[in-house]
Amino acid sequence: MDQNTKKFNVAKAVIEYIHNDCILGMGTGSTVNFLIEMLPDVRNKISGIASSSLETERLLKSKGFDVQPLSDFGNMDLYIDGADEATKNLHLIKGGGGALTREKIIASSSRKFICIIDDSKLVDKLGQFPLPIEVIPMARSYVSREIIARKGQPIFRENFITDNGNEIIDVHNLDIVNPLTMEENINQITGVVTVGLFAKRKADILLLSNDDGVSEIRTEK
Ligand code: 5RP
Repeated sequence: MDQNTKKFNVAKAVIEYIHNDCILGMGTGSTVNFLIEMLPDVRNKISGIASSSLETERLLKSKGFDVQPLSDFGNMDLYIDGADEATKNLHLIKGGGGALTREKIIASSSRKFICIIDDSKLVDKLGQFPLPIEVIPMARSYVSREIIARKGQPIFRENFITDNGNEIIDVHNLDIVNPLTMEENINQITGVVTVGLFAKRKADILLLSNDDGVSEIRTEK
């Protein structure tokens, strides 16, 4: 089965987790884009919707959804998003599409976060995928030196500006032994806006798509 079919299948599977009167947060990326295509089928269940990126907002509006700012809501009921890497502990690397800051904000303010992935994203240890870090532009060199001191190799993402007007550094070869400690450590470097490790606010449910179908992985909070 090809990767797009797996993405389609997991997007279809997550539809049944959208309950009546749902205040829904939508992530960003090609897996979520499959979900957006199907979302009109459950339009009557969705009482409010917020987006993690301008691109997702544009797609949702093209389907007739009234996308509202996150601040219009209290906590969201449900956040659905993909990931670049995930472990069975439900720790994630996100930000391949550069939307990590808004994604982390909505995930953090949601009661439930369901991450939808195909099996190519499941890893035993995070870090094969370069870790994205959104930085204030003037801090780019400073943050890069701090990352080198932590034994990572920072690569500036060329020709890319985030929806928040910032830049991205992709960090290669970091030894992420403890995702939560690493997230906290990188977060406190001055000039870092968001690190793409989702360990403090990890997923509550991982929906995993493979050749045999879609399975659910949960851990205790
Ligand atoms: C965007 C993200 C995406 O969730 C991640 O890149 C996965 O994307 P895709 O579904 O296209 O594989 O974090 O910032």
